[in-house]
Amino acid sequence: MNNKLKEIISDDNKYLFQNYGSRLAVEFKKGRKSFLYDQDNKKYIDFFSGIAVCTLGYNYPELNKALIRQVKSILHTSNWFLNSNQTAAAELISLNSFPGKTLFVNSGTEANEAAIKLARKYGISKNEEKYHIISFSGSFHGRTFGAMSATAQEKIHKGFGPVVPGFTYLPFNDIEALKNEVKSGNYCAVIFECIQGEGGIRPVDRQFIKEVHSICNENDILLIADEVQTGVGRTGKVFAFQNYEITPDILTLAKGLGAGLPIGAIHTTDRLSAVLSQGTHGTTFGGNHLSCKAAEIVLKTVTSEGFLDKLSEISKLFFDELNEMKKSLKIIRDVRGMGLHIGIEIDRDGLGIVKQALAKGLVINCTAGNVIRIMPPLNIDKKTVIKGLKIFKELLMEQNNEN
Ligand SMILES: Cc1ncc(COP(=O)(O)O)c(C=O)c1O
Repeated sequence: MNNKLKEIISDDNKYLFQNYGSRLAVEFKKGRKSFLYDQDNKKYIDFFSGIAVCTLGYNYPELNKALIRQVKSILHTSNWFLNSNQTAAAELISLNSFPGKTLFVNSGTEANEAAIKLARKYGISKNEEKYHIISFSGSFHGRTFGAMSATAQEKIHKGFGPVVPGFTYLPFNDIEALKNEVKSGNYCAVIFECIQGEGGIRPVDRQFIKEVHSICNENDILLIADEVQTGVGRTGKVFAFQNYEITPDILTLAKGLGAGLPIGAIHTTDRLSAVLSQGTHGTTFGGNHLSCKAAEIVLKTVTSEGFLDKLSEISKLFFDELNEMKKSLKIIRDVRGMGLHIGIEIDRDGLGIVKQALAKGLVINCTAGNVIRIMPPLNIDKKTVIKGLKIFKELLMEQNNEN
């Protein structure tokens, strides 16, 4: 490790909260397409996109141009004033998901906070006790108190005292458990991820979510699709719920929506949007001019002709290659996911592989302990995928042969 890197690590330890543990020992200084370059100008293939954020890779020309133009005109005014960048992005969300209205916030957790507030206010308007929300084991909805309380993972709650009351955690993909629970009549919402991301790339069962959808409709329970990780093209459709022939009542977005700029959004029907009436919710930064301009470009690009068809081809390449690897490598237990939201469950902790991949010039990630997560930029090209997969295969072969 060179002295410059040592100094960066020492400053990190000295000046920053250590809540992320020790970060991987690399600082990316620039990016081009699906490549990253570190402090020593070493080139990496990016199969991670900064946790499914950098939808269009790095230095995407149209995004750059639009953002530079925006920086030169105005960054922020406030939600006291009109903002046609917000309306442009909201119109695209509406056109490509379901008709309704959008509220912009700054992150995934805030989008879910808004959804939780809306659902509770809606339920309470019907019956004082109708504020309970169901979420599923293995879910992840964010780190602020409401979203953290919705997250059905004890390790996320630990040490913070009582969580927000009114959340019930049910086993994922277990319809009988849900049927029994909703009988109380006090549920205002069910929140779910189409593919649990932090939970280990676990897709929701098709029949299960269809039944959940019907049960919600029958019982006036709002269905909230948390698409913070799966939204905006990641699974091969503009929104992941479109893979399941259901339409949620509320859609939450963040990550890939801004292609690197912080933004979140909650989208719902006209009728439900009115629940968060004047003075009941708001944010200073949410939907500022710059982040909404990014969202507009991302949505236009992802919905442009041929974009998702190309993504499907790339997805097929990944799944074909990875399933082929699985046949010969015992280390791989399962390959799952959809589109470019891919999990490879292995028979051991994945952090070592992540570090070794980095050393070989490939950026991947590990979630839920032993699930290697691959989420490249949505516009990654075939040649780069083949190169990256070659590195990945070599690595897994080495590991496979060691044990
Ligand atoms: C499904 C899901 N919901 C919510 C969040 C929280 O988003 P943020 O980190 O932007 O607050 C995440 C983050 O990983 C997520 O994957």
